Amino acid sequence: VQSTDPQTADQTADPTADPMIEFKRQVAEEAAAMVRDGMAVGLGTGSTSAMMIDALGRRWAQGLRFVAIPTSERSAAQARGHGITLVSFATHPQLDLAIDGADEVERGSLNLVKGLGGALLREKIVAAAARRFIVMVDESKLVDHLGSHAPIPVEVTPFGWESTARQLGELGARVSPRMDRDGNLFVTDGGNMILDCAFGPIADPPGLAADIRRIVGVIETGLFIGRTSEVLVAGRHGLTRLVA
Ligand code: 5RP
Repeated sequence: VQSTDPQTADQTADPTADPMIEFKRQVAEEAAAMVRDGMAVGLGTGSTSAMMIDALGRRWAQGLRFVAIPTSERSAAQARGHGITLVSFATHPQLDLAIDGADEVERGSLNLVKGLGGALLREKIVAAAARRFIVMVDESKLVDHLGSHAPIPVEVTPFGWESTARQLGELGARVSPRMDRDGNLFVTDGGNMILDCAFGPIADPPGLAADIRRIVGVIETGLFIGRTSEVLVAGRHGLTRLVA
């Protein structure tokens, strides 16, 4: 078990260092344009989602009115800063749309790896509550096999994490506990830990997701299987929509 480089704990640390920034901005604007008056919307987490929330903030200032459930405290603070009305599942158990970024999108299946920003549990709950789940990525995130570039983040209970990590290792992963910038174990909004599990290219993501979920101590995996409605991809050849 090795520890993760603290820099990977916060993907929004320095968005200007990201060469794909302009592509992210394009998909963020396009996704924000899908929100209509009166909708209930799930707001994702990460640098692309942050741009989408800012785009929604500009539309809010022009009079668009909707309600939102954020997938992290970070996104909640940002949305609140724009004056966007935040609600909870108590009043809105079903959402019209959820909009979020991703770390990898598998061509064909549109299955995803999410969670490098540390918000995968709330992101999956919000995606599951939405009639349509819209994913925004730049072209560098498209892969033939999930796991090709990104580790699979797995949210686990702090109690017994070393045992959980060992069992994840038995599934074939190189397991690294996520650290924060101060070199401490990263703590999710739910008070849990993240184990980054590098499997390499995954032949059977649904099978692996089921195997991971069977391990006691695992709360949720960053493999998002069969949840995507549409992926907005921006790249050198413009903007494309991939529909599930
Ligand atoms: C956070 C996530 C993000 O959506 C994912 O990491 C993509 O981030 P970015 O838009 O910064 O590339 O899953 O938990």
